[in-house]
Amino acid sequence: MRNVVIAGYARSPFQLANKGAFARTRPDDLAAAVVRGLVARTGVDTSAIEDLVMGCAFPEAEQGFNVARLVVLLSGLPLTVGGMTVNRFCGSSMSAVQYAAGQIALGAGDVFIAAGVESMTRIPMWGFNPLPHPELAKNTAAFIGMGDTAENLASRYGISRADQEAFALESQRKAAEAIGAGHLVEEIVVVNDVSADGTPRPGTTAEALAGLKPAFSPTGTVTAGTSSPLTDGASAVLVASEDYARAAGLPILARIRSVAISGCSPEIMGIGPVESSRKALARAGLSVADIDVVELNEAFASQSLACIADLGLDTAKVNIDGGAIAIGHPLGATGARIVGKAASLLQRTGGRFALATQCIGGGQGIATVLERV
Ligand SMILES: CC(C)(COP(=O)(O)OP(=O)(O)OC[C@H]1O[C@@H](n2cnc3c(N)ncnc32)[C@H](O)[C@@H]1OP(=O)(O)O)[C@@H](O)C(=O)NCCC(=O)NCCS
Repeated sequence: MRNVVIAGYARSPFQLANKGAFARTRPDDLAAAVVRGLVARTGVDTSAIEDLVMGCAFPEAEQGFNVARLVVLLSGLPLTVGGMTVNRFCGSSMSAVQYAAGQIALGAGDVFIAAGVESMTRIPMWGFNPLPHPELAKNTAAFIGMGDTAENLASRYGISRADQEAFALESQRKAAEAIGAGHLVEEIVVVNDVSADGTPRPGTTAEALAGLKPAFSPTGTVTAGTSSPLTDGASAVLVASEDYARAAGLPILARIRSVAISGCSPEIMGIGPVESSRKALARAGLSVADIDVVELNEAFASQSLACIADLGLDTAKVNIDGGAIAIGHPLGATGARIVGKAASLLQRTGGRFALATQCIGGGQGIATVLERV
């Protein structure tokens, strides 16, 4: 099997759905701008790119069905580059990275773009024509709302509203610090003159969070302040064989050491990262203690705290520049963002191993272990 590396990362600014700067921006245009930015940033020879794999959680007409191929055409990539859209809900673009890595390991190409996009302005969480399977809807939690899964984990793990708010406050604080230090601007491609995220709320206070009403259940503990916001955004990473990356002089951020997928009960989908991370770590021959950098997608504070507790993660290593509660979570784009972020953080911190992991609606987890080389 050939070694595979992350050889570049870029993303759009993340903007609040409906209210933000990309509410009227087409997702294909947004993703194409990010792909152009990634190509410019890495200097990759575009004629060598085998395929553009695009994660998208709602690949409906409004986002282009096979939006990947549209993005190839829009971004000026050669017509010889393929385009495939993959859907694993929130795990879509991490799956794009993992697919690309598998193809490269098999010898089916040297360079791929693994990207993701979501316009949560254009597509409501359930799509436009929800037709839940009646038997599954009656007998299982297959179609449970994501906020309800966050409430379930809060009660099962005894995570108080105050704990969730302390976590959310910390996410906002870390994001504000990263913005101040210029760390987020480094990864952002300017799109339509927008050069910064519109999602973070740097002025967040404990008092303001404590005053918000529950978002999903009148008696619940999860609020808008402890949830990731509905977000418009796109992201992309360059995935290449290590040999090709070295020969072509591409920037090598990290080697992919292992990957994993796992399933869990839909009603506690937020715990998905636990099993997928354990599997990926075991495949890399590593334990949690070996990991220097963790990117754990913050779909909700309760869900993140449950995963941190079960995995025994050191919070000082988790989401160093803030997580999705502050930065946002454009479903299809998050996986490539956190893989790219984890790889970039290995470079910045000098750490050796990173874990990027996220939960997935319907009850799944996905994880990728990276190593700085
Ligand atoms: C939680 C959710 C329903 C809130 O949606 P919303 O009501 O449109 O969100 P808003 O941004 O308007 O926030 C609601 C209120 O909380 C306030 N608020 C949100 N975050 C805050 C913060 N950090 N500090 C202070 N106030 C905050 C807003 O200002 C707003 O106040 P207002 O009503 O006085 O204007 C929505 O963000 C959501 O569904 N998130 C989860 C998405 C999801 O499921 N993703 C997949 C995960 S698997």
